[in-house]
Amino acid sequence: MKVHHIAQQNSILNKFLAEIRDVSIQKDRMRFRRNIERIGEVLAYELSKELSYTSKEIATPLDIKNTQLPPKDIILCSILRAGLPMHMGVLNYFDDVDNAFISAYRHHPNNDLDIEIEVEYFASPSIDNKTLLLIDPMLATGKSLVAVYEGIKRYGKPKQIHIVSAIGSEEGVEYVKNHFPANTELWIADIDPILNSKGYIVPGLGDAGDLCYGEKL
Ligand code: URA
Repeated sequence: MKVHHIAQQNSILNKFLAEIRDVSIQKDRMRFRRNIERIGEVLAYELSKELSYTSKEIATPLDIKNTQLPPKDIILCSILRAGLPMHMGVLNYFDDVDNAFISAYRHHPNNDLDIEIEVEYFASPSIDNKTLLLIDPMLATGKSLVAVYEGIKRYGKPKQIHIVSAIGSEEGVEYVKNHFPANTELWIADIDPILNSKGYIVPGLGDAGDLCYGEKL
């Protein structure tokens, strides 16, 4: 699996990442959501360079221009609820594609270290022979992504998979590398060294869902 670690090269993305991590700036929920959305936009732009384009003649008021256009057979798939702002960022660029939503949550049947993923709700079109963009802002253990992928397989076999993520742990990236098929690429803004015993990425940013939408019971 090809991993594109975008923050390895300096760009304006660094500022968006710094702001979502910064404990004083992240108190502004609207800014936090918008920064996650902006990271989704940057990653959408980066991955758009790897898609297969087709030529089309466009009529301007003055002449014909031969242009290269990206494919439309793309499905954006996000995990509720933390995935929503990043989903909107990617959708801002791939604005006319179809969408899938899945609910997944972690629970700890025995103790903090014991993480199981429950996948419950699916709303998806066919993904057969499509380009699937799986969006997960926090790639912590990688288990949610793998559970979602296992679940969404009932909607078909994608020809290409792109995973889009803001921050991952080294361990999560390894897990995903070992559990996704070869036709998968990972587009990730930044990768952090530690996954703590509660499944949080360190230094990370905290709980992305809570920072976007408030704490849940
Ligand atoms: N989900 C989050 O929101 N943060 C983490 O650090 C890990 C998973």
